[in-house]
Amino acid sequence: MKLQAPSLLTVLIFLFLSFQTSTSLLTRGSSLSVEDSSHVLTSPDKTFTCGFYSVGDENAYWFSVWFTNSSDRTVVWMANRDRPVNGQGSKVSLRRNGAMVLTDVDGTVIWMTNTTSTRADRAELLDSGNLVLKDLQGKILWQSFDFPTDTLLPNQYLTKNTKLISKLGSGNFGSGFYTFYFDNDNVLRLIYDGPDTSSVYWPNPDWTVFQNGRTKYNSSRIAVLDDMGSFLSSDIFQFSAIDMGFGIKRRLTMDYDGNLRLYSLNMNGSWMISYEALRQQCNVHGICGKNGICVYTPEPECSCPPGYEVTEPGNWNKGCKPKFNRTCSNTQQVKFIELPHVDYYGYDLNFSSPASLDFCMKLCLDDCRCEAFSYRLTGEGFCFTKSVLFNGFNTPNFPASIYLKLPVNVEASEPTSLVGTDLVCPSSVTKVVIGTSSMYDTAIKRIRWAYLYGFAIAIGAIEVIFFVTGWWFLFRKHDVPSLLEDGYRVISSQFRRFTYVELKKATKNFKEEVGRGGSGAVYKGVLEDEREVAVKRLGDIYQGEEVFWAEVSTIGKIYHMNLVRMWGFCSEDKHRLLIYEYVKNQSLDRHLFSSDFLGWKERFKVALGTAKGLAYLHHECLEWVIHCDVKPENILLDNEFEPKIADFGLAKLSQRGSKSSEFSRIRGTKGYMAPEWALNLPITAKVDVYSYGVVILEMVKGIRLSGWVVGDGDEEETELKRFVRVVKTKIQCEEDSWIEDVVDPRMNGKFSKNQVATLVRIGISCVEGDRSKRPTMDSIVQSLLECEAESEVVRPDKR
Ligand SMILES: *[C@@H]1O[C@H](CO)[C@@H](O)[C@H](O)[C@H]1NC(C)=O
Ligand SMILES: *[C@@H]1O[C@H](CO)[C@@H](O)[C@H](O)[C@H]1NC(C)=O
Ligand SMILES: *[C@@H]1O[C@H](CO)[C@@H](O)[C@H](O)[C@H]1NC(C)=O
Ligand SMILES: *[C@@H]1O[C@H](CO)[C@@H](O)[C@H](O)[C@H]1NC(C)=O
Ligand SMILES: *[C@@H]1O[C@H](CO)[C@@H](O)[C@H](O)[C@H]1NC(C)=O
Ligand SMILES: *[C@@H]1O[C@H](CO)[C@@H](O)[C@H](O)[C@H]1NC(C)=O
Repeated sequence: MKLQAPSLLTVLIFLFLSFQTSTSLLTRGSSLSVEDSSHVLTSPDKTFTCGFYSVGDENAYWFSVWFTNSSDRTVVWMANRDRPVNGQGSKVSLRRNGAMVLTDVDGTVIWMTNTTSTRADRAELLDSGNLVLKDLQGKILWQSFDFPTDTLLPNQYLTKNTKLISKLGSGNFGSGFYTFYFDNDNVLRLIYDGPDTSSVYWPNPDWTVFQNGRTKYNSSRIAVLDDMGSFLSSDIFQFSAIDMGFGIKRRLTMDYDGNLRLYSLNMNGSWMISYEALRQQCNVHGICGKNGICVYTPEPECSCPPGYEVTEPGNWNKGCKPKFNRTCSNTQQVKFIELPHVDYYGYDLNFSSPASLDFCMKLCLDDCRCEAFSYRLTGEGFCFTKSVLFNGFNTPNFPASIYLKLPVNVEASEPTSLVGTDLVCPSSVTKVVIGTSSMYDTAIKRIRWAYLYGFAIAIGAIEVIFFVTGWWFLFRKHDVPSLLEDGYRVISSQFRRFTYVELKKATKNFKEEVGRGGSGAVYKGVLEDEREVAVKRLGDIYQGEEVFWAEVSTIGKIYHMNLVRMWGFCSEDKHRLLIYEYVKNQSLDRHLFSSDFLGWKERFKVALGTAKGLAYLHHECLEWVIHCDVKPENILLDNEFEPKIADFGLAKLSQRGSKSSEFSRIRGTKGYMAPEWALNLPITAKVDVYSYGVVILEMVKGIRLSGWVVGDGDEEETELKRFVRVVKTKIQCEEDSWIEDVVDPRMNGKFSKNQVATLVRIGISCVEGDRSKRPTMDSIVQSLLECEAESEVVRPDKR
């Protein structure tokens, strides 16, 4: 027994070494054949393997590069994605003329490199995953990095000549419909490029390049993901992995569901998503085909509207077909059916505003091409008539409805399943369902979005032993028993789980306190990788470990330019700490209410950014997040005075575990709290709208409005109430000078009247006592963007 173990190990090591040396490169004149599956190229550090790849027992093979250690052998590059070769007699050779050639069983050339009549001497797979052809001097003549398929690896450049094209489906490697590319105006985009239509859906197609935070003025068109997990593009788009740091294997993939995702490889070979371009899957275009609607249930699924049915079960690309014949004769009587919170993006026949619902309906009735119209009742009413129904989606709180035009004899009732997700805002639009009511004919078919990364391959016995010993060595060397604790693996790889000792060191034993709020004190610190962080020590958390980390990991997944990013947490014994990015320029209150002075342009920017951040929390996050404590102290400013909202999600943290519901109910800060807190009404996102209103009024006025003053009739009232009363009177009396009177006198006339008026109007509507009269954050963002754009017309952007 004593002798056996070491000798077995020596044999294994010998096997391992001989395996390694025999397959590191392919020399001129030699080839790899499809029959011999052990005949592959591996990168020196074994991360990547290159050879013939197949799935299941189909007789289809692709010459590919894949991750050796990922459990499903994730492919990162393919030579012949649209034309697999036979499992017998196919081979790839480095011919004597210098070209690398893939041939099928009958000798036809399926694919070849452009290196004919060069001195290409060998093919090598580098540690980066790049398959290269080199000459004798080691110069690279050809590289797979220049011809990506659907994946970009770290240090692989995306350029004006390259793009990522998704696969067709989970086991279908052919070129699919979604593309990640540099557009003609130098902006990185995602486009659905389907058989009948194509349509850009990211970044937000309703916004200008500038509003999307991009630029079109850098024509170098280059983008790259670095070793740390940060992606940077020449159109100034950038993002970082949630688990940013060295030593993690990553890939950026254009997935076949139309989302662009960054993945990190877990220890056990599964993949974790560390960035996603679209938080809302239904914003991907083309996903449910023509007439189809993408619905959250809460998983995204496709469904057909009333009067329509699935065209081809199992294939949503084909969408839904009408169950009736549409004619243009006057004899066909039609009716309209409302689908609340639904829109079909694009294909507008006509746009009118202001428009009443009746007017809009008539417009659609009179135009034979009109299949439906979208009507939005914010302000004066917006009416869009549609000739084609494509890119349908349903979002809770989307402030518009689709009205489908159907022949009267088509049976269709309200699609109840579509309104089910509307949690908060009741629709104020009256329904105009004229049809008979019958069963809603649901045609929901599940799309499987989840990626199945099961262990699909049988690993040979030797490999298993290597795995086991490898793990053993790995864990012994680093001595991190906590990583092995059940359940903690997910979170530790997702963003960091820090140790208390580590944080003590980073903050120099909690020396520099930079702030203190209801939930605890905040300290500045510097991590080992030199990132500056803010460490928040939580006071009253009653939760057990599991609930705590489940909650923080949800918060950790939320990212938006206007929200402070969470990088990790620590939970040891009694200690509960959260680690955030460090925002340089202090909080808004210090700029507003002290000697520091903020100009109008910056103030407007802060108002808009804060609204965007809150709108994101309220409307975009699938998991509803109500902040509950919006106030200037929780709005941090970065170097460019871009606001970042702090402390979101914490309301939920302390709410769940506490014993007395009374205690947990009251949150927030006096002066910024909506009346419903005191009135014992249900708490909705409208409490944040109220607080936001107070904040923007304070920003206009430049003073706190949350204090108490003695009013005219000897009664105490808040500064806010008085302010609102005074302004309302002035507006009613049509005093032109009211703007000058309400604005911060320090501004010295340097402000945009139009913007001040808009902010004050929004502010006043936000602090309405009746919460149903308050606007939603989405509509506030919309109004502010319009107002920002108006002033841009006057003073064009000089960049
Ligand atoms: C092969 O194609 C790549 C990418 O288009 C190009 O950079 C390279 O110069 C070409 N090589 C030859 C020998 O033509
Ligand atoms: C354009 O982008 C590249 C890559 O990000 C950068 O190196 C270069 O400085 C940019 N050029 C200008 C004029 O901003
Ligand atoms: C539609 O018209 C086709 C032929 O024009 C006919 O076969 C079909 O039955 C009609 N469908 C309905 C629902 O009337
Ligand atoms: C759009 O509708 C208006 C009526 O509101 C009409 O005057 C105009 O001609 C229409 N435009 C188009 C392109 O159909
Ligand atoms: C792959 O897994 C083996 C065994 O499980 C391990 O020894 C090796 O270090 C891993 N390689 C990489 C590049 O992670
Ligand atoms: C691998 O580990 C991750 C967390 O690190 C976990 O979520 C996943 O379920 C594991 N997968 C398998 C196949 O064990």
